[in-house]
Amino acid sequence: MRVNGKPYRTIWLAPDGRSVEIIDQTLLPHEFATLRLETCDDAARAIKTMQVRGAPLIGATAAYGVALAMRADASDEVLDRCHDALLKTRPTAVNLRWALDDMRTTLRNRRREERVAAAYARAAAIADEDVAINAAIGEHGLALFRRADARKRGERLNVLTHCNAGWLATVDWGTALAPVYKAHDGGIKVHVWVDETRPRNQGMSLTAWELGQHGVPHTVIADNTGGHLMQHGLVDLCIVGTDRTTATGDVCNKIGTYLKALAAKDNGVPFYVALPSPTIDWTVRDGVKGIPIEQRDGTELSRVTGRGADGSVVTVDIAPAGSAMANYAFDVTPSRLVTALVTERGSCAATEAGLGGLFPERTKKKAG
Ligand code: MRU
Repeated sequence: MRVNGKPYRTIWLAPDGRSVEIIDQTLLPHEFATLRLETCDDAARAIKTMQVRGAPLIGATAAYGVALAMRADASDEVLDRCHDALLKTRPTAVNLRWALDDMRTTLRNRRREERVAAAYARAAAIADEDVAINAAIGEHGLALFRRADARKRGERLNVLTHCNAGWLATVDWGTALAPVYKAHDGGIKVHVWVDETRPRNQGMSLTAWELGQHGVPHTVIADNTGGHLMQHGLVDLCIVGTDRTTATGDVCNKIGTYLKALAAKDNGVPFYVALPSPTIDWTVRDGVKGIPIEQRDGTELSRVTGRGADGSVVTVDIAPAGSAMANYAFDVTPSRLVTALVTERGSCAATEAGLGGLFPERTKKKAG
């Protein structure tokens, strides 16, 4: 996608051909700055502090983190140490484990002297695959948007989204926002209601920013507004991303997604979830019981950062001293509330049979 007219991905190899560069997402929307990662520790820090975030981008960054480790020392010991350090950074997005396991399997099968080149090649392939997957999700989602748009008879198509599942959360395109970009570029009058997404405000800071960069009409709303808009016919469809989807179609995504899905069900608004297949955890059946939910520091809740009147970026406390804070980062939306899953292979019911129909190799593997 483009930033001030210049094409960007969220992660790329630096001109030295060894280091990796990212966009520091903690500075947006006030500052656009890139950052260089040189080591596995740098990659782990970037994921943990959310300089990079979003399930697919976490996976791609971890893959490059392993490549950076191999550059320093291509031993089995370092491979395992970097794998384990990166795996500990964030617990919920399963793309992290998927990418790390993929890298370790790829490298274990290589002689030590081949590992550096193999690691960079596989990390680049994971990044490129993510772009291709998201572009395909965009096309399949676009078909759903077109159907909804046909009912609007030229009026704007109102889409509600939560958190940031746009290109900043992936290597490019985004998952939930890929159909939005394709619809906008294809002439559909799409307008996005952007949930601010407390506590870290990924909707306000990132989704609104990237939609603005692409010229997509959008309006930021407080997190609790969606239900009211739906009651008044002002939302035609909801579409969100996911950090982990179970084999039965339960969806774990940013805290607050579940409440939007409940409101959508109550108001007959379609609730779509866009997901690349590395986000499916085929080992978990019950999302509420089986998916680890990240709990983050309470200061993310009790402090806000913004631009002051003098133009400087400041962080301020907004809570009374001494109040306890609970900061659950994700929740699980049961499959019964999801209208359809949109994957790179097409859309399906949020059921085991639906996912199995699109990914028969996974169900066959299980049966065997
Ligand atoms: O905590 P974050 O910002 O990493 O959470 C991101 C989300 O919840 C996204 O919706 C999810 O990762 C899907 S990204 C395509």
